[in-house]
Amino acid sequence: MSDLWSERFAAGVQQMRSSAVRDLLKLTEQPDVISFGGGLPAPESFPVEELAAAAEQALIDNPSAALQYGLTEGYRPLREFLVTRMAMLGIRVPAEQVMVTHGSQQGLDMAGRLLIDPGAPVAVEDPSYLGALGAWRSLQPAWVTLNLDDDGLDVEQLERMLASGVRPRFLYVVSCFQNPTGVTLSLGRRVRLLELAARYGLVILEDDPYGELYYEGERARPLAALDVEMHGELRHVIYLSTFSKQLAPGLRVGWMAAPPAYIARAAILKQGLDLHSNSFAQRVAYLTCKDGLLDRHIPVIREVYRARRDVMLAALAAEMPAGVRWTKPAGGMFCWLTLPDGINATELLKRCLDQKVAYVPGAAFYADGGGEHTARLNFSFSAPDRIRAGIARLGEVFRDALSEKR
Ligand SMILES: Cc1ncc(COP(=O)(O)O)c(C=O)c1O
Repeated sequence: MSDLWSERFAAGVQQMRSSAVRDLLKLTEQPDVISFGGGLPAPESFPVEELAAAAEQALIDNPSAALQYGLTEGYRPLREFLVTRMAMLGIRVPAEQVMVTHGSQQGLDMAGRLLIDPGAPVAVEDPSYLGALGAWRSLQPAWVTLNLDDDGLDVEQLERMLASGVRPRFLYVVSCFQNPTGVTLSLGRRVRLLELAARYGLVILEDDPYGELYYEGERARPLAALDVEMHGELRHVIYLSTFSKQLAPGLRVGWMAAPPAYIARAAILKQGLDLHSNSFAQRVAYLTCKDGLLDRHIPVIREVYRARRDVMLAALAAEMPAGVRWTKPAGGMFCWLTLPDGINATELLKRCLDQKVAYVPGAAFYADGGGEHTARLNFSFSAPDRIRAGIARLGEVFRDALSEKR
């Protein structure tokens, strides 16, 4: 029987790998494991009452529309709402350039299907969001990886690559509080990136699920806003965002804003994928948000996550042995740990699980391999006392592993 299936799958599908995050999410179901693994929002932050009221209203006001097939591009009032929200960030686009997606993950999947041919170069940050890498791997791109530092991706390296004649189908950037590292692309590099896009005809896929979750300073200006400012229209950037971190990920409502030519093809593709996003969920998202909930709710989420980040950073400082380094993200949901060379985070995870604590080994986030001594820690999901306890457990395992090496 197994032969039937081993010969059945398309060539690209054989490149698919099970996601380390998905496997780990199973562990969060065991209450005694403190999991820093999944990228989960805090469930206490879901606006349950408001969502319940909106769900009822959607079904009472217009049940036949809420439960009926809808437009492929999405529910018009929701798209108009998103136009207004994005305009506040400087992303000025008409509703015709906005499409509602099934989470921003669908926007990533669609970008791959629309833009990647087997062997075509695709530029990604190294490390990068593993959900994007996973969505595209079966399409067999040639990865072009770009280094990251505290200011985001190395734009000079990108320039050298472009100048040498490499023409990626697109550059994928998580511009704010990157998953997995937590770093944010600096304004200077954003501007430089847009200049390079204009000079070399580069398409940028900007994935911005975390931009609103800033705990210091101001919201960073999206690349899409700079593109509009520079060209008077969205020209080089496909912008993705989502309600997953602002309302609840289970709604599966995200969106994209993109140049008209891209949206037109995306609409044809989406008809084949799912006809349209969930009519009911789109109405629930719209009715929940239309009277200003986000402006009241997002600051509450920021407060909770800022406190959890601070607890995690303080616990890391207190518990980690010498030689371990970590990022200090100004927002988002993740810290990125770098262990001393020679310590393998995937192997250590087994020992951590024995101690009932989990993280995502960093190697999964590298398109082309590497990063064995890195790990991603999520700080949004666990309550402060569990963060402290979990980091203490991690510190113990790391200390033992380091002393064994000496
Ligand atoms: C960088 C990034 N992009 C996209 C997604 C997917 O989000 P959504 O729930 O909107 O599909 C995530 C989820 O964690 C993410 O971290």
